[in-house]
Amino acid sequence: MRKSYPKEVFLNGQWLPHDQATVSVFDRGFMLGDGIYEVIPFYQNKLFTPDEHIQRLKAGLAEVGIAYDVDSLKTTASEAVVRAGCNEGAVYIQITRGAAPRTHYFPADVEPTVLLYAFHLSLGGFEQKLVDVILSEDFRWHRCNIKSISLIANVLANNFAHQQGVLENVLIRNGLVTEGSCTSVFFVRNGIVYTHPEGPHILPGITRNLVILLCGEMGIEVEEKAISVNDLPFGDEAFLTGTTMQVTAIGSMRIGSEQLVVSTDVGQVTRRIQQAFIKRIEAL
Ligand SMILES: Cc1ncc(COP(=O)(O)O)c(C=O)c1O
Repeated sequence: MRKSYPKEVFLNGQWLPHDQATVSVFDRGFMLGDGIYEVIPFYQNKLFTPDEHIQRLKAGLAEVGIAYDVDSLKTTASEAVVRAGCNEGAVYIQITRGAAPRTHYFPADVEPTVLLYAFHLSLGGFEQKLVDVILSEDFRWHRCNIKSISLIANVLANNFAHQQGVLENVLIRNGLVTEGSCTSVFFVRNGIVYTHPEGPHILPGITRNLVILLCGEMGIEVEEKAISVNDLPFGDEAFLTGTTMQVTAIGSMRIGSEQLVVSTDVGQVTRRIQQAFIKRIEAL
C-alpha cells in the first residue's frame, strides 16, 4: 500500500510543511541509524497510552546516551493530532543524536534532531482479521529492547514476509519464538496465554504490556515464557499485538514449506482480549 506524507511535521521546535522540513546529510540518523523512535496511536483524536510510549522513548534515549528531555513531547504529540485533522492514526517521533562530522564514537556538543508528526491510519476492524505469517530466523542484535531507528534487520524480515504474500514474519532465535518484525507475538494453549519474557531479545511492546494487564484483570493466566517452535502445532490460538496491529489473530503460520493452520476464526481467548482492548479505547 502506498502511503502519503503528512501535511506538516514538527522539526527541532518548528512546525513546517513536510516538503520544507530538511535535516543535514551529516545527521547521524541518516549516516549511522543513530537514533531512537516511538509510535503513539490515537483514537477519537486522543492519544492512547501516551505516558507509556514517552517513558519507553526516555528509556531508549538513556540506553544509547542521547541527552534529550522528552517530557514536552506529549503536548507536542497532542498538538500534532489536532493539526493532522483526522480522528485516528498515530504519531511518529524520532530523535537522533544530531548532525556532526562522521565518527563512530559520540561527537561532543551535538544537538539532537527531533522530528514528530501525526498521520492517519484506519485502526478499526482488527478484531475481524486473521493474518497469515511466516516464521524465520531472528538475525537481529542482542539489544532488541531498544527501539532503535536502525531497523535494517526488521526491514529485511518484514519484506521477506511481504515477498511471500503474508503480513508478518515471526522470528525464531535458538528454536524459540521471540517476536514479529514489527509486532509482539502471543500463543494460547489450554486457556493460558504465553509470550516471550522481556529482555534483550524483544521490544517491550506497549500493546503487549497492556494485553498482559487486561488478562490479569479478566483472570486469564499469562506466562511470560518463550515458546519453542516445536510446540507451535500444539497451540490453540495465536495473535500479534502492536500499536498499528492492535490485537490481531493469526490464521496460519508457515515454516519453510510447512503450513500450520492455527485457526479459521478468531479464538475465544483472543476474542476476550480484543473486547477488553476495545473497551479501553472506548473509555478514552
Ligand atoms: C520489533 C517490534 N516488536 C514489537 C512491537 C510492538 O510494540 P508496540 O506494542 O509498543 O507498538 C513493535 C512495534 O513497532 C516492534 O517494532
